[in-house]
Amino acid sequence: MKKFLERFKLIDVNSSDSKLNSYLNNEIDSDLEKFGAVLIRNTPINNYADLENYGKIFIKKPYLAYVGGVVPRKNYSKYVFNSTELNGLFKIKLHNELAYQENAPDRIAFFCEQQPLIGGETPIAHEKDITGHFSNSLKNFLEEKKIVYIRRYFSKEKLNSVQRLFSPFFLTWQDAFSCEKKDLAELKCKDLNLKFSWIDTADTLEVRSEFPIFVNHEILNKKVFFNQIFTQNHNRYSLGSLVYYTYKVLGINSDNAPRNTVVDGQEIEKKDLYSLYAAYNNAERSFKWKNQDLLILDNKQVLHARNTFVGKRKICVMMGNN
Ligand SMILES: [Fe+2]
Repeated sequence: MKKFLERFKLIDVNSSDSKLNSYLNNEIDSDLEKFGAVLIRNTPINNYADLENYGKIFIKKPYLAYVGGVVPRKNYSKYVFNSTELNGLFKIKLHNELAYQENAPDRIAFFCEQQPLIGGETPIAHEKDITGHFSNSLKNFLEEKKIVYIRRYFSKEKLNSVQRLFSPFFLTWQDAFSCEKKDLAELKCKDLNLKFSWIDTADTLEVRSEFPIFVNHEILNKKVFFNQIFTQNHNRYSLGSLVYYTYKVLGINSDNAPRNTVVDGQEIEKKDLYSLYAAYNNAERSFKWKNQDLLILDNKQVLHARNTFVGKRKICVMMGNN
């Protein structure tokens, strides 16, 4: 927690509706600019409906649906989703939300309705703590380049028994695009400016998107490290040894993996992946979730992750633009 407080802001609103309202109406914008993340403790929020009401104060254009994601989700209400349903055995590494699509949100809010028994933190990292750990050569290399995100969504009907067992890793196009018809999925890809093709006897939808690795932060008017170059890359550091070697046994490599990233059409070198891994680990800061906590992030300055956990965990999410 000490490391968290050295970089980010914590306030306590003592269950007061007026304090929370006042903070969200008057101070959150400047604090997000300055710190990139604010943790608000003891909010009067009790459920997703409350989150939706308060969320609309600081997210003026909330997102309706989570289309084209890489992990399964469901909606609690019009604007509130559950956090990823990926099994608590697996850690999700640091990433900027939806950085691989044009509709990446400016802001994201996490509300803790059920704190996990053990683990399950949402670690965060400021992009300047990550890039500050890069060697000059790595920074120069990344600054000039564009990244291509490749995602492969399998067909619900064609998932084999092993893939079903690991279903969160093999998101189907039907789930990712919330539809059952291929032409509808194609339309949604077009809406998001995604290049798409049907591969493997037309059962798998392969989607590609290209973005710079550093983007302009409109409010700060400076370039920020904003991407999922590491999290979506098919490598042992980001997947973890268990998943990586399970994939290997299943014959899954970077050419047919559910996700991968390439830079200038080339696989990212192992030494660069390790440098990214070390920089992310160095920048990561976390706190223990408590019920009623609200964590608000500037998605373009701050990356988030999810630690492994045991027991029930309910974190509601709202995201969008201001
Ligand atoms: Fe996320």
